[in-house]
Amino acid sequence: MTRKMICLFSFVALLSFVELGLPVKPAEFETYPVKLSIINELTNDKASFTSSVTEGGVLFGVLNNLNGSNGFSYSYSVNNNFGLYLESVNGVAGSDNDHTYWELLTESEGRLTRLETGIGCYQPKKDEHIILRFTKWN
Ligand SMILES: *[C@@H]1O[C@H](CO)[C@@H](O)[C@H](O)[C@H]1NC(C)=O
Repeated sequence: MTRKMICLFSFVALLSFVELGLPVKPAEFETYPVKLSIINELTNDKASFTSSVTEGGVLFGVLNNLNGSNGFSYSYSVNNNFGLYLESVNGVAGSDNDHTYWELLTESEGRLTRLETGIGCYQPKKDEHIILRFTKWN
């Protein structure tokens, strides 16, 4: 089980906004909704929320914009090599002893796909449905 917090080239990506012809002034960025669901596979608890993020922003922003309201809170830790790691959601934290962790998924037309990058790097699209799933690894 490798923790999915690999974050490649995010700094480079930020620097290349200008080269890509993307808007450079914050005011020119749109803020759009992102749907966020949490599923606890161990307890079967489920909840859905609507958050938002600024265009080009990352999942970390989606979590921050929702945190502390509507019964959603989370915490993260920082790994010196991999960056931000989702540690707990609503007080439920992964544990190496129990082999539990929060898996990051995106849902489209009922199909779930694992995110290849962590909360500090993944850039959700407008209206994307992100799922945080508390699960076990073998
Ligand atoms: C989320 O909000 C809670 C309380 O509202 C706070 O204790 C916690 O530090 C916040 N988490 C982050 C990652 O900012």
